[in-house]
Amino acid sequence: MINFTKISYKSLLVAVCSLPLYAEPLDGTIQEGGELFKKANCQKCHIVDGTFDKMNEKVKNVNNLASWVSTCDNSLHIGWFPEEQEKVTKYLNETYYKLKK
Ligand code: HEC
Repeated sequence: MINFTKISYKSLLVAVCSLPLYAEPLDGTIQEGGELFKKANCQKCHIVDGTFDKMNEKVKNVNNLASWVSTCDNSLHIGWFPEEQEKVTKYLNETYYKLKK
C-alpha cells in the first residue's frame, strides 16, 4: 500500500527547495535597472562620492521612490517604459534605499 501522506510531504519539500530558482530573474532585473540608470546618465546628478545622493530625502517608501524615478525620467525626457522604470526602482531600492514597502 502506498503511503500518500509521505508522498505529499516529499513533494512539498521539493516545491519549497525549488523556490530560490524563481528568485533568480530578479537579479537580472536589478542588473538591467543599473544599466538603464547609467545609460540615462542619472549619475550625473545623483552619484556623489560613489553613492546615490538622495538630495532632499523625500522618499519614504517604495511608491515614493517609483514616482521619483518617473518624475526624473519625464523631466529629462528619457522615455522609459513603465517596466523600465520598475527595474530602475528595484535597482535603486536594492542597492541604496533598502525600503521594505
Ligand atoms: C539634472 C539633475 C538630475 C538628473 C540627471 C536626475 N535627477 Fe533625480 N533628482 C534631481 C533633483 C534635483 C531631485 C530632488 C528634487 C526635490 O527634492 O524636489 C531628484 C530626486 C530624485 C529621486 C528622489 C530622491 C529622494 O530620496 O528624495 C530619485 C529616486 C531620482 N531623482 C531618480 C532619478 C533617476 C532614476 C534619474 C535618471 C533618469 C535621475 N533622477 C536623474 C535631479 C536629477
